Amino acid sequence: MAHLHTDVWKIDTLPDTQIEEAANQLKEGQTVAFPTETVYGLGADATNEQAVQAIFDAKGRPADNPLIVHIGSTDVLEKYVTHIPERASKLMDAFWPGPLTIILPSNGTLAKNVTAGLETVGLRMPDHPIALALLKTSELPVAAPSANRSGKPSPTTADHVYHDLNGRIAGIVDGGRTGVGVESTVIDCTLDRPMILRPGGVTQSDIEAVIGAVDIAPSKVKKDEQPRSPGMKYKHYAPDAPIWIVRGGADRMKNVAEEVAGRVTFLVSQERADELGVNDALILGSRDDLSSITSNLYDALRQIDQMDTDLVLAESFSKDGIGEALMNRLERAATKVIE
Ligand code: TXA
Ligand code: MG
Repeated sequence: MAHLHTDVWKIDTLPDTQIEEAANQLKEGQTVAFPTETVYGLGADATNEQAVQAIFDAKGRPADNPLIVHIGSTDVLEKYVTHIPERASKLMDAFWPGPLTIILPSNGTLAKNVTAGLETVGLRMPDHPIALALLKTSELPVAAPSANRSGKPSPTTADHVYHDLNGRIAGIVDGGRTGVGVESTVIDCTLDRPMILRPGGVTQSDIEAVIGAVDIAPSKVKKDEQPRSPGMKYKHYAPDAPIWIVRGGADRMKNVAEEVAGRVTFLVSQERADELGVNDALILGSRDDLSSITSNLYDALRQIDQMDTDLVLAESFSKDGIGEALMNRLERAATKVIE
């Protein structure tokens, strides 16, 4: 693709006039990366097919993988969907703005490539002041997948975006590190019984407390089977060195490390690093604070590729609350689980 000059707008406090510059780029059909509370997104005008195509080109994203549309107000929803099921409105009231993407029946108004030909559209109102300011200033529905090259982990800093997309997009709004650190929960509300297609910042129990029992899509689909979420059929990011998740404690981890040849890196909590007595581990945070472990995961995965290592042994964390999304992403990045 043609080389673009990529502007970087660093924003410390709002209001900031640079938001207008970024919004103008969006209005002109350009691609702009911006922070959300989950990960950085790569945005473009969701009503402009060419602008949306530029997202697919910059990321190298398969054309059959639909994009999430970000909105700044629920008032605009009826412009894009045929109707809003009651359970979906309850979820919006409870969790928007926030890390929940709701799949609704599309009325076909948005650019066709946003939904990759599906009759549904994923919508979300992000809970980040910069994202909301950009949506409000541009007055656009903004299609935005995670702002990484396809096959890389989602970016949690503007540096990650710059590394992957410099020269391929018009600009990056740098708002510092994102919070949640993994992508939003995706729930399909077009089904009789809603189904979580991807676990994320809003947990199954959060959702069930508001609308009752929901289904969970299987995290792996069989060959030739069409998953409800097209993104699920693509290989998730895995670093160059294989990751093995070790379910046992520190002793088990030590044994495994001793049995293999080559350089081993530990991807663990501070507590596990202390138990192992190592000082060169990749430390994700305290085991008692799963949110901080989750928030640091993608940066750690990116660091692995900069390291001289043959194997990564990762700690297995609790699947409670946000741990469900954390372990979903870690398991997808891993090649093996050792009991
Ligand atoms: O937190 C997030 O969701 C971030 C930020 C930027 O908002 N975005 C994000 O987008 O993770 P992306 O494109 O990397 O992941 C979107 C996922 C994909 O797995 C896609 O297949 C699925 O949502 N998806 C989007 N629209 C869909 C639809 N209409 N039906 C089923 N799945 C859909
Ligand atoms: Mg993505």
